[in-house]
Amino acid sequence: MSTPRISVVIPTYKEVENIPLISAEIDANLSGEEYEIIFVDDNSQDGSEAAVAQLADSIPARIIVRTEDRGLSTAVIRGIEEARGDYVVVMDCDLSHPASAIAPMISKLQSGENDFVVGSRYIKGGSFDDDWGFFRLLNSKIATWLALPLCHIKDPMSGFFAFQRSKFESCAHLAPTGYKIGLEIMVKGEFNKPGEHPIHFKDREHGESKLSLKEQLLYLRHLRRLYRFKYPLISEFFQFGFVGGTGFVIDTLIYFALQAFFGMGHNLARAISFWPAATWNWIWNRTITFTDREKSRHLTQWLSFLGTSLIGFAMNYGTYAVLTANVPFFETYKFLALVIGVLVGMGFNFMVARIFVFRPLEEEILEEEKELHH
Ligand code: GDD
Ligand code: MN
Repeated sequence: MSTPRISVVIPTYKEVENIPLISAEIDANLSGEEYEIIFVDDNSQDGSEAAVAQLADSIPARIIVRTEDRGLSTAVIRGIEEARGDYVVVMDCDLSHPASAIAPMISKLQSGENDFVVGSRYIKGGSFDDDWGFFRLLNSKIATWLALPLCHIKDPMSGFFAFQRSKFESCAHLAPTGYKIGLEIMVKGEFNKPGEHPIHFKDREHGESKLSLKEQLLYLRHLRRLYRFKYPLISEFFQFGFVGGTGFVIDTLIYFALQAFFGMGHNLARAISFWPAATWNWIWNRTITFTDREKSRHLTQWLSFLGTSLIGFAMNYGTYAVLTANVPFFETYKFLALVIGVLVGMGFNFMVARIFVFRPLEEEILEEEKELHH
């Protein structure tokens, strides 16, 4: 068997009606090319296997039927692993993605203009069937904006993409959950010149879409993981700040409640409200900000977090006091002094928290060292 130049990977689940149609479309558009089609089916049991067998005389197509693993992303990865071509194209089976775009997408890879090409609805020349309701569109747009800092692609959610197969090895630690395997590969692989090719996205005629609300929630989790991968420090700081912000609300509520309902003096209320708020911060930093860190014993970690927070608070308060007492500028702009105090205290808390309180796992330290020596 000669090795093909292009491998088209198509994940399928209950697509028996579409299999002959997409195969014919691909064949018509890639005539004269060495190519292969790899369907990766999750045991649909709807005659898909027979449908591919029937094609196999005229079209270089085969089907892998998985009975143990499930899910779109792992299916796509499986297909890429089985691919033998120089270039891999991943597309849907439901004819939403036009096979006519494959050749121009490959050209962009071959010319070196791009090293990852996405079939895109949202760039000039791209379009989609216009019976998309307002909410479907809004939904898709928001999801797209959320991913912008990860990659400057207008249609990062697209399940239609192409790249050079040899680059697949550079994709570190793929975590194939959810629907957005293209985004995952693009962010984690060493691609320097991602680009887009405009397509018209057709709505499916046969079968049903499998994109559910659950998938969308998974998408948010997926994004969070990608942000952590690409911007570990910034995303930690952001989450730490977010938790701190909610902690501040708790702090304030308790501070006022103690005075209003228990007639407590403001100094005592201030001294008390700190503790539940700092505990709240500790819980959420343990579960959100530093999810992957060593799970130290609760009591020890809680105490050290409270200790750090107290020092941080002292620095926060001290900065405010010193600035407003000694610097004429801050005597006038007291609120700025408060903001600087908060930043100093939070910066201190953050540094100590990420190094000492929520200790990195040993493997993480090793990994960081490895990276330094490269
Ligand atoms: N093997 C396998 N396993 N294939 C699956 C599975 C699964 O669990 N779920 C879906 N597929 C296949 C479908 O058979 C189809 O070929 C392709 O994956 C896309 O599924 P659709 O159900 O048609 O997805 P969609 O139209 O809602 O989503 C499309 O748009 C999204 C962005 O808006 C796809 O292009 C997505 O890839 C894209 O992210
Ligand atoms: Mn579809």
